[in-house]
Amino acid sequence: MKNHSKDYLLLQNQFYRWTMIEVYAIKILSEQEFLKVKNELLALLPGELRESMLRYRIVNVLQRSLFGELMTRRILADKLKNTIDSFNFIKSEKGKPYLEKNPVYFNISHSGEWVVAAFCNNFEVGIDIEKIKPVNFEIAERFFSESEKRELFSKTGDEKLKYFFDLWTMKESYLKLLGKGLTKPLSTFTISGSKGQFHLFSDVDSVQDVNFRQYQLVDDYKLSVCSYSDKFDDKLMILGIDYLIARRFGKTKLNEDD
Ligand SMILES: CC(C)(COP(=O)(O)OP(=O)(O)OC[C@H]1O[C@@H](n2cnc3c(N)ncnc32)[C@H](O)[C@@H]1OP(=O)(O)O)[C@@H](O)C(=O)NCCC(=O)NCCS
Repeated sequence: MKNHSKDYLLLQNQFYRWTMIEVYAIKILSEQEFLKVKNELLALLPGELRESMLRYRIVNVLQRSLFGELMTRRILADKLKNTIDSFNFIKSEKGKPYLEKNPVYFNISHSGEWVVAAFCNNFEVGIDIEKIKPVNFEIAERFFSESEKRELFSKTGDEKLKYFFDLWTMKESYLKLLGKGLTKPLSTFTISGSKGQFHLFSDVDSVQDVNFRQYQLVDDYKLSVCSYSDKFDDKLMILGIDYLIARRFGKTKLNEDD
């Protein structure tokens, strides 16, 4: 289990109330609504990052990336009592973003109309969301392990489709926890489970002590989180655009103890 307790001790004053893996979601806007607030949102980012966001030509791709970045910055700013442009994110060799010099871990995922992020103090975390849509099950032949395929193909109809996305998001959340991207073939490990309880059954590299949790966001999406910690907050927190822009005056879960 990866634990950075030395660093944590240095910072525990800041984090002593924050012990759970917290998961947040935000729905992107219609293109028309987004264009009304686009510049206001972009202005919140440090200049270089703003420029790099503008390379996205497809509005919803820009929105998903921008919402992920801003949601992460806002939440970290609330937790670490800092401003949203004060953070420096670094990327691992395979592209996983981290907060520089800080044992706070986070991971972002987006699909369709939703952007989600998981935060964990002191333990690595991975998250994946996918919109459920009809699939060619030949994908499973390529990406799933033998026993995952057996389990999947024992099911039919809607149950089979949902189980495909259960496995897909679980596998992605595990890969995203490890941060290895697709350099680790998806068929080299097996996840099994039922009724929302999943575990890592085998991994040709090493069977890690990881925990999975599924969250129910809306019917046509699957959302899975993986961490070395097993302290998952039961509640999925759904944010709105006002939170990103900080047009909020009431207490929220993020600052209710202040
Ligand atoms: C890049 C990858 C990490 C996630 O890809 P994805 O599922 O398309 O994208 P998600 O929306 O879940 O996650 C994207 C975010 O993950 C983060 N990320 C990027 N590289 C990462 C890595 N190596 N590890 C963890 N997180 C990473 C970034 O914050 C990124 O956000 P950004 O695109 O706005 O910068 C990688 O696992 C991948 O390419 N997967 C392909 C999907 C696939 O074929 N799956 C088959 C499943 S059966």
